[in-house]
Amino acid sequence: MKRLAVLTSGGDAPGMNAAIRAVVRAGISRGFQTFGVRHGYTGLMAGDLVPLGSRDVGGIMERGGTILGTTRCQELKTGQGQQAALRQLRERGIEHLVVIGGGGSQAGAAALSGNGQSVVGLTSTIDNDIAGFDVTIGATTAVDVALESVDRLRVTAASHGRVFLVEVMGRDGGFIALNVGIASGAEFIVVPEVETSPVQVAAEIRATWARGKSHAIVVVAEGAKYNVDALASCLGRSDTPLGFDLRLCRLGHVQRGGAPGMTDRLLATRLGAAAVMHLAEGRTGVLVGIRAGCIVAEPLAESVGRKKPLEPDLLDLARTLSL
Ligand code: F6P
Repeated sequence: MKRLAVLTSGGDAPGMNAAIRAVVRAGISRGFQTFGVRHGYTGLMAGDLVPLGSRDVGGIMERGGTILGTTRCQELKTGQGQQAALRQLRERGIEHLVVIGGGGSQAGAAALSGNGQSVVGLTSTIDNDIAGFDVTIGATTAVDVALESVDRLRVTAASHGRVFLVEVMGRDGGFIALNVGIASGAEFIVVPEVETSPVQVAAEIRATWARGKSHAIVVVAEGAKYNVDALASCLGRSDTPLGFDLRLCRLGHVQRGGAPGMTDRLLATRLGAAAVMHLAEGRTGVLVGIRAGCIVAEPLAESVGRKKPLEPDLLDLARTLSL
């Protein structure tokens, strides 16, 4: 029987379990025995692999996180680490590897592929920062989780006449901030892609106050030049009053812990099955994701390391609507 291994790597993302399930079950239908690698590339280098059958992946689709565990593995960036990983696969007669993760994890997959390993990557990160793909596994649920929190902050902000600076994740990209900001009706959105000074933020808050609003929400991406702490300290030092009392909230890892919604379950399932299809048909060294609603596979070597721009239309819309 042909053998394949599947691992999750980098930050966990809601939907990773649905992808694992799809790989295992689509694998069975195409004659593969699947092994789950525990704890990402770290586990692969250490030989921490377990066989996964159909029953092992039952009842996991609705669970956030990853049943396999995940790590951020620096060692895989070295030639020695890559050789250790390849050796573990070789010793077990495992021909193929499926890597579920974001940009850093896929750079690792590209390195293994460059060493002759048959690899397929699946795009999965809450940051949605992989260029060339519409949306990655986990991003939609993370936005929904953050949105629910911002809606709640708006309730208390309105009661107290406050402005909240709300920090969302996204590494050095503004996808989560922009989408949460628009969907929550934020008064202002700060993203790394658009340089914004504390003076501008203060001016927007004062303008909101002057328009007679009872409160304000400013969504700030963690990767912005001025994060919530820097902004709060600059705004706090200003001699001109903001109008509103100021509070800050960092949503942090709560954004990664949601149960995957329908969109992420379906996307992960489609990508997992597509990965197995590519392996069965002999196409490897590719990164599988969704573009314009279709599942596509791009060469791994060309897909990693490119910065994904924010949608200009959404940026414009955010400005237009925050009156
Ligand atoms: O890449 C996902 C992500 O949640 C980023 O948004 C964030 O910057 C980072 O991971 C946090 O990493 P860690 O879980 O290692 O603190």
